[in-house]
Amino acid sequence: MTEAPTMHLAYREQERVHVLTLDRPGSSANILDTAAVRELNALLDCLAADARGLVLLSAKPSIFVAGADVHELAALARGGDLESVIRLGQDTFNRIAALPLVTVAAIHGACLGGGLELALACDYRLATRDRATRIGLPETSLGILPTWGGATRLPRLIGLPAALDLVLAGRILPAPVAAKRGVVDELVPREHLLRFALECIGRGKPARRSFWFNTALPAAFVRDRAAARAAAKTRGHYPAVTEALDAMARGVTKPLPDALALEREAALRLARTPACRNLMGLFALRERAKHLGADDVAALCGRPPAGDRPAPVARVAVIGAGVMGAGIAQWISSRGIAVLLRDVNAEAVNRGMTAIAGLYRDAAKRRILSEVEARRGLGLVAPADADAPLARIDLVIEAAVEQLDVKKEIFRKLEAAAPPHALLATNTSALPITDLAKAVKSPGRVVGLHFFNPVHRMELVEIVVGRATDPDAALRAVRFAQQLGKLPVLARDRPGFIVNRVLMPYLVEAGLLFAAGGDAREIDEAMLDFGMPMGPLRLIDEVGVDVAWHVARELGETYGHRMPAPPLLAAMVQAGLLGRKSGRGFYIHAGKDEPRPNPEAREVAGGATAGTPPRGDLQRRMALLMVNEAARCVEENVVARAEDVDFAMVMGTGFAPFRGGPLQYADDDGLAGTVADLQRLAARDPRFEPAALLQAHASEGTTFRGRDVT
Ligand code: NAI
Repeated sequence: MTEAPTMHLAYREQERVHVLTLDRPGSSANILDTAAVRELNALLDCLAADARGLVLLSAKPSIFVAGADVHELAALARGGDLESVIRLGQDTFNRIAALPLVTVAAIHGACLGGGLELALACDYRLATRDRATRIGLPETSLGILPTWGGATRLPRLIGLPAALDLVLAGRILPAPVAAKRGVVDELVPREHLLRFALECIGRGKPARRSFWFNTALPAAFVRDRAAARAAAKTRGHYPAVTEALDAMARGVTKPLPDALALEREAALRLARTPACRNLMGLFALRERAKHLGADDVAALCGRPPAGDRPAPVARVAVIGAGVMGAGIAQWISSRGIAVLLRDVNAEAVNRGMTAIAGLYRDAAKRRILSEVEARRGLGLVAPADADAPLARIDLVIEAAVEQLDVKKEIFRKLEAAAPPHALLATNTSALPITDLAKAVKSPGRVVGLHFFNPVHRMELVEIVVGRATDPDAALRAVRFAQQLGKLPVLARDRPGFIVNRVLMPYLVEAGLLFAAGGDAREIDEAMLDFGMPMGPLRLIDEVGVDVAWHVARELGETYGHRMPAPPLLAAMVQAGLLGRKSGRGFYIHAGKDEPRPNPEAREVAGGATAGTPPRGDLQRRMALLMVNEAARCVEENVVARAEDVDFAMVMGTGFAPFRGGPLQYADDDGLAGTVADLQRLAARDPRFEPAALLQAHASEGTTFRGRDVT
């Protein structure tokens, strides 16, 4: 048992109803670690014999139960009695499901993983409509499956196809969607949660739902279809998806205890997989990003900030209302912060406002925000002309065109217009923060706040620390990113920071392979097979061939032969093949059709006929270039810890999450082999020259990631 109780049980004599309130002390979250599940078990022994009902509530403002304790799970997966912990959870929830009284989960806030499994063991699930109420079983994204009865009870509640859809993708649903899909019974206003729960108890136990699949045949049919869909997505890299699918499709035809045994056995097999270890490692890194603070800033800046709690940001100005400026302004306002949006003229600001309104409309349509929240958010964005006063602003984010002289001029003006306490941030992709800061008299306030596109989807923000950046400014930027619900990673100011720098040699290599006569589809398929979410040539098309060319040239100036801007890209730009935005690049993009290779790109590339190397070689060449550049980021102290590069690459580019990031991939693959392969390739092409740190690790038998961070 934990020392202080994490939940308490009250009895409402008049109604003969127990209310169990989950309230982990000293934390904003309820989690179900082993101690909490034991505590719950013990409380079940205390229920009054004449009680009619039990309501489960949370005392936290935005969390019902966030899930099991992932750190504990990760430790158990590495070596511990995982089976006993699984059994403990299953037995406890079975006890709840078997109670003779009416049980109601009254959900407000996140109800995830073990939290939803607890709710699924209840007779009724009520949920508040609030945005904080999000419901799902995300276990497969951690490399495991719901194993406290979730994989068994969810298909029995909403049917196998719908349950597979949620579990295999690890989907987290807003409350209204969860209600629509039958995961919760009713949506209720938060202030009446308990009253509605008592009403449910008055109704008595619900009629047992019909058993969906009482023969194996339809279940097998559903399974095969889901398996084909999952295989196309995961390409066999995510054993948790395969195991969950199998356990659920078989379990739904079996009695409950047998189905629970299937969950258990699958979880024990999965816990031993590298994918599980890597995915849990990423979870730990996400948590770390949420709590990044003064020590991390000190580690990167070389001196600590004055305090741990910089003044929060209440008012922001965004300069530049283009793709990024509009996206950033929309996201900030959606978090309840007032934003002033400026651009060179009213027309540009209006375009930005239209884009923001579109983003809000979309969020409301997808029920991520309610209509009211969307209207409120939009109302927080104030369009302003180029010289609108900035006297009350706490933070300025510059997101104007990527030209050093333009940005320097903006910064000069900003310094004069913004109050002295205001942080001056830039969203530049690749320009040096240190150079930009030279435009102002107090360069300590200048920091990089590098959001990724599209802002509302990408969680990562690189916080870039220039040579003169004050640690207090860096910490303030970190806290601001956290205030926005984004995941910050700290980077020192080197061209391309982390993500673009590591990505660029990979994109360059794809371009060179194509220019040498490689087939676009083959090149892209190779990396999809490796586990990337999109092939590199397709990615260049999405980013814009001109943008890729521009960034490659910028980075090439510093990194020289390692990132030569492929002449092919320049030729494509000249031919108007700009990628998706012009409808033609490496592919032809026509509406919603799957893009098909563009013969014009081949013509522009000339008649090279080297052909396409075998898939394994393609993968190795492209992946090793990322590994090598990631190693150099560590070597040059762009990051304070190797895992920061891995985290940034997974979050910023979707680098195969099951591999844990480029450095984890290299560690797992063996650094001696990695260096040997790089040396072999370097004999013909110096771009592959292995980084000194890689060679040092290989010869000393050490690794980048060392032991797990969890
Ligand atoms: P964009 O071309 O869509 O928008 C730039 C906006 O800045 C335009 O509306 C333009 O009128 C405005 N502008 C130009 N000079 C200005 C000035 N003196 N004062 C105020 N506004 C001015 O460009 P985008 O894509 O939004 O990029 C903006 C910045 O964000 C660039 O530094 C870019 O490198 C960076 N970035 C871009 C990403 C992307 O995927 N598009 C991703 C991450 C960063």
